[in-house]
Amino acid sequence: MAKKSENIGGKLMTISVVGLSGTEKEKGQLGIGKSCLCNRFVRTSADDYNVDHISVLSQSDFSGRVVNNDHFLYWGNVQKEYDEQEYRFEVVEQTEFVDDSCFQPFKAVGKTESYVKRCVATKLQSAEKLMYVCKNQLGIEKEYEQRLIPDGKLSVDGFLCVYDVSLVPGRTWEKQNEITAAILQNIIKLKKPVVLVTSKNDESCEQGVREAERLVQRKEFKGSIPIVETSSHDNVNVDQAFFLLAQMIDKSKARIKVANYAEALRIR
Ligand code: GTP
Ligand code: MG
Repeated sequence: MAKKSENIGGKLMTISVVGLSGTEKEKGQLGIGKSCLCNRFVRTSADDYNVDHISVLSQSDFSGRVVNNDHFLYWGNVQKEYDEQEYRFEVVEQTEFVDDSCFQPFKAVGKTESYVKRCVATKLQSAEKLMYVCKNQLGIEKEYEQRLIPDGKLSVDGFLCVYDVSLVPGRTWEKQNEITAAILQNIIKLKKPVVLVTSKNDESCEQGVREAERLVQRKEFKGSIPIVETSSHDNVNVDQAFFLLAQMIDKSKARIKVANYAEALRIR
């Protein structure tokens, strides 16, 4: 009977959003778009959508209740319906926060694993961690909705691995390919579903789109990783990426047909 009540308002899925993260040396001048994807999904309306999210922080913000000395953000939960299927999603983002005094990643207590290993964690624990809302929230948490991560822990059901198809100064395709491939391999080992979400298709460059396609075609992935082409800024294919992953988790026979970017933009 316990199962039944869990399904009220749709099945509950916990989704972890991952992809190239770190200092400017790793990711270039800009992040790949993980935070914007989460923001657009959980707080869709234009008023709640921010393009600038936290990455370089002070020590006090790192140890505040939102970041809570971790390298992941709890984005909260949202209930959505698509094609008559209803799901509830808990959303987390795995990133790497950088200290604004020395520009090195913060050292999380007792955790020394590299990002590619750490980001595929399926048991996330962080007592009293607060939902992240926006950059301005840090330090004045009481002025924003204060929602806690459920029971201080989450169990991840599937992954959205983000791949930026725009040209970013200071980042090479080789670097993004190497890190993304390593993350995907680690997820496949866990036998958890994963979707490769290409980000920033509103500014895509041809090579980026090709690199992403070539990446999932590698033999080691056995054609098991679908690509969804998104733009968080233009709100294209964002819900579709989460729903496709939810159906993979659910082992549902019905799979939504996700249009490519050009088509999705046209029918939006
Ligand atoms: P870190 O967590 O710091 O590693 O970065 P991230 O992967 O969370 O990236 P974030 O979402 O913070 O976005 C980084 C930059 O890319 C910001 O300047 C965003 O405005 C920009 N960006 C994100 N999504 C899009 C998009 O859909 N289109 C365009 N053109 N830019 C985007
Ligand atoms: Mg981020």
